[in-house]
Amino acid sequence: MAKIMDGHKLSEEIKTGVRRDVEALGAMGVEVGLGLLMVGENPSSRQYLLATIKACKKVGIIPHQFNLPEDASINEILNVVHTINRDERINGLLVLFPLPRRINPRRVVNEILPEKDVDGLGSLSVGRLAAEESTFQIFTYNSSEDHWVRGMPAISGYLPCTPYGVIRLLEYYGVELKGKHAVVVGKSLAVGKPLSLMLLAKEATVTVCHRATDDLAYFTRQADILCTATGVKGLIREDMVKDGVVVVDIGINVIEDGRIVGDVDFEGVKNKASLITPVPGGVGPVTIAMLLENTVKSAQRNHLLKSPLIT
Ligand SMILES: NC(=O)c1ccc[n+]([C@@H]2O[C@H](COP(=O)([O-])OP(=O)(O)OC[C@H]3O[C@@H](n4cnc5c(N)ncnc54)[C@H](OP(=O)(O)O)[C@@H]3O)[C@@H](O)[C@H]2O)c1
Repeated sequence: MAKIMDGHKLSEEIKTGVRRDVEALGAMGVEVGLGLLMVGENPSSRQYLLATIKACKKVGIIPHQFNLPEDASINEILNVVHTINRDERINGLLVLFPLPRRINPRRVVNEILPEKDVDGLGSLSVGRLAAEESTFQIFTYNSSEDHWVRGMPAISGYLPCTPYGVIRLLEYYGVELKGKHAVVVGKSLAVGKPLSLMLLAKEATVTVCHRATDDLAYFTRQADILCTATGVKGLIREDMVKDGVVVVDIGINVIEDGRIVGDVDFEGVKNKASLITPVPGGVGPVTIAMLLENTVKSAQRNHLLKSPLIT
């Protein structure tokens, strides 16, 4: 029977660290702010917005809300992004998806300054991850503050919160990644693709599966670590995994009775897995914690780099 990877527990620990860093900046007269841009009214975006605002307030980060109507033009949206880019009180920007269909989301995220792209989705952030210019973040979070500060000027980009949260969760539960076969199901820019790059940086052997993958089970059965982010309920069944596998379920699916489930048939797969994330309560809470951590790191970096006393 699998041990549960508790996302709430890790999330609380990360948030305690964030609160401490926010207070330290506050003592120097620096406030930490997160911009939240929502266009139109989508119920799941609204839910995520409220959860993020609540989490910000808990750690002392000031949320700055920008709400635009459904029919806002691309120019209006970009003007808000530019305003946030220039606002010293705001250290990061989260754009809530989906945007209205006629708006190209890449046009919007690419306009966010990389140093404020705390969701790590802009092309520069993605490129820096692929070029291993920002992956030092997945190696340094346990080291001293000094180490982080020394690395900081080298980055002007942050790792996307969900895959970064997956790596943190795996390491929190002592999962060795080096030399293991990690199978990632899903190749989206927000989750599957950056997660596979981070696992590769950690020297796992990585297989990425997607909709066109022929015989998905052939690959998932080989996984030492199986991460799935598809949004397909029940995609991963007990007969598709090997004994002792570590399973990270990133999927979020709302079922008929209103409950939330992942991509994995939890009841079946937990009999074979050694470790497994629940849905809800697994990756979700860690994602928000990573957003807060990226935001406070952005504030620290901004404060340090602009100090004339830097040596
Ligand atoms: N827990 C969290 O914090 C968090 C954060 C973000 C997202 N999520 C959840 O994670 C899931 C994925 O999100 P996303 O943004 O990556 O979604 P997405 O952009 O729709 O991507 C889904 C991916 O799954 C693949 N896929 C779909 N059906 C498949 C199948 N039958 N077999 C194999 N691969 C399949 C797609 O393949 P193709 O590329 O070939 O189409 C695509 O790469 C969603 O449920 C979302 O709600 C959770």
